Amino acid sequence: MEQLIDQIKTHLAEVEAFQSSDPGEIERFRIKFLAKKGILTGLFAAFKDVPSDLKKTFGQQLNALKVAATNKLEESKKASVSKVKESTFSIDFTRPGQLIELGALHPISILRNQVIDIFSQIGFSLSAGQEIEDDWHNFTALNLPKHHPARDMQDTFFVQTNPDILLRTHTSSVQVRHMEANHPPIRTLSPGRVFRNEDISARSHCVFHQVEGLYIDKNVSFADLKQTLLYFTKSMFGKSKIRFRPSYFPFTEPSAEVDIYWGLETEADYRITKRTGWLEIMGCGMVDPQVLTNCNINSDEYSGYAFGMGLERMAMILYGIEDIRMFYENDIRFLQQFSSMG
Ligand code: PHE
Repeated sequence: MEQLIDQIKTHLAEVEAFQSSDPGEIERFRIKFLAKKGILTGLFAAFKDVPSDLKKTFGQQLNALKVAATNKLEESKKASVSKVKESTFSIDFTRPGQLIELGALHPISILRNQVIDIFSQIGFSLSAGQEIEDDWHNFTALNLPKHHPARDMQDTFFVQTNPDILLRTHTSSVQVRHMEANHPPIRTLSPGRVFRNEDISARSHCVFHQVEGLYIDKNVSFADLKQTLLYFTKSMFGKSKIRFRPSYFPFTEPSAEVDIYWGLETEADYRITKRTGWLEIMGCGMVDPQVLTNCNINSDEYSGYAFGMGLERMAMILYGIEDIRMFYENDIRFLQQFSSMG
């Protein structure tokens, strides 16, 4: 009997010494003393075997332990709740927030959007094609039949071993698809990524971006082409002097390269125009009647012009970028320089 009383005293000391605001520890305390299988339940079960003359003392001790444990539990729970509150309210609402870094458009996207805006003001709509093309849309329909020497100019990536499936070498393929699916009048702009199997260097890359345009209607003439491109160079570069140099593309006849007169005012002008004042910016020409026929358009009734430009080249000139690889390396220090433009 003495032993039982001693046990209660030890437990009571433990209960009184317990101090915690940790929810896990509090729960362990509850389970140890007050749960169904806890210490108190065990002691109350022992109560019936206690000789009746000692029942009173034992009962008092036992009750004291129960009250102490219950009170301790309540106290500890309150302490734990107020600790949570305390930690919530310790947030400093006046502390400045962390800055969110704003993203920015890639310089190529900025230029592409500018070109699109300028042409959309004179009625050009957008057409998007596919990057993986077939031979017909990239070559044959554009007057580049199999074994035509001009195919070499294009340095094509073929998809696996199938010579009919390739990565488009220009977005003229989009225009072929557009002509096949629509009746004139057609006025469409096709921006997109193109691929050529070329060594990567500061000046050329195997992936780059073009914007090509196509206009087909009755009585479209070279004069229309000239005026449209003059409007474009004025809007895009603020330059109003351009010239057309005879050139060759299999899908246009006649064909020309367009140069803008950049001027020779600054040292940079000398460098980028190779001391001539003139800058080549795009290829163009009147759509070859055979191309119209290939796309089911009556070439006796309709004529048209086409033009195409490379965005990387234009961006390099405009922003003084010396190395085309900068566009694809995603060096944040390079890209951030354009963050205010887009
Ligand atoms: N498709 C030509 C190229 O990729 C560009 C071009 C388009 C030239 C339309 C003339 C007319 O180089």
